Amino acid sequence: MSLSNKTALVTGASSGIGHAIAVKLLDAGANVLGLCRDTSKLPEGVTPIECDLSDSTQIDTVFGAINQLDILVNNAGLALLSRISDGDPADWDTMWQLNVQALTICCQKSLPLFPKSGGQIVNTSSMSGHRVPPSGGFYSPTKFAVRGVSDALRLELRADGNPTRVATVSPGFVDTPLLDNYFKGREEQLSQTRSSMQMLEADDVASSMLHILSTPLHVEITDIQMRSVEQKS
Ligand SMILES: NC(=O)c1ccc[n+]([C@@H]2O[C@H](COP(=O)([O-])OP(=O)(O)OC[C@H]3O[C@@H](n4cnc5c(N)ncnc54)[C@H](OP(=O)(O)O)[C@@H]3O)[C@@H](O)[C@H]2O)c1
Repeated sequence: MSLSNKTALVTGASSGIGHAIAVKLLDAGANVLGLCRDTSKLPEGVTPIECDLSDSTQIDTVFGAINQLDILVNNAGLALLSRISDGDPADWDTMWQLNVQALTICCQKSLPLFPKSGGQIVNTSSMSGHRVPPSGGFYSPTKFAVRGVSDALRLELRADGNPTRVATVSPGFVDTPLLDNYFKGREEQLSQTRSSMQMLEADDVASSMLHILSTPLHVEITDIQMRSVEQKS
C-alpha cells in the first residue's frame, strides 16, 4: 500500500505506538512530521517538530507553519495513576490537557489543512475508554472522552458534507514506556502483569492504524478494539 504524496503528522512519534506508526508511514512512502518534546528519539527520516502539547500557544505555532496535511495520528498521551477518590487534581489536569484538550485542538487545526477530498484522523483511545479497569482512575475518563470527541467530530463533518474520516484505535496493554508511569509505585504489579501475558507490541497497534489509513475513500472505520489474547478484561 502506497501513501506517497501524503503528508502525515504523528503526535508522540518519539516512543511506543507513535514511533511505530511513524516508521510504517515512512515505509509506505508518506512524508512524516513527528511531533514530541524530545525530538532526538524520532525515527530517522521523520521531520522533527518540537512541541509541548500541553501548551496551546506551541500548538498554534506548529499548525501555523504547516501548509498542507492528509493524515493526523493523534497519539501522544500520558497515563498517571490518579484515583478519583483521593488523586491529585493537578494530575487530572495534566492528563486532560494532553489526552483530550490538545488532541481536540489538533483535530480542529488539521481540518483546514486537509484536501477537499478529505483527510484522515486517527485518535488513540484505549480499552480503558470502553470499560473502566479497577485502577483506571482519571486516565480512563480521558480515554472515554477521546471516543466522545471523535464521534462528535464525525457527526459535525458529515453534517457539513466534509468527507474527512475519523477513527479511534483502542488497545489494551501495550508494552511501552507509558506503563512505567501507570504502574509507578506498583512495579511488582507491572512485572506480574508482564509475566502473565504476552502484551500487544506497539507494532501491532501501528499495523491496525495503517489498515485504517489504507481503506478505500468510501470506507470509514470508526473504532478498533484490540488486546492481548491473554488479557482477561
Ligand atoms: N501503552 C499502553 O498500554 C496503551 C494502551 C492503550 C492506549 N494507549 C495510548 O497510546 C498512546 C501512545 O502511548 P504509548 O504507550 O506509545 O506511550 P509512550 O511510549 O509513553 O509515548 C508517549 C508519546 O507521547 C509524547 N508526549 C508525552 N507528553 C507530551 C507532551 N506534553 N507534548 C508532546 N508530546 C508528548 C512522548 O514524547 P516526548 O516525551 O518526547 O514528548 C511520546 O512520544 C497514548 O495516547 C496512550 O494513552 C497506550
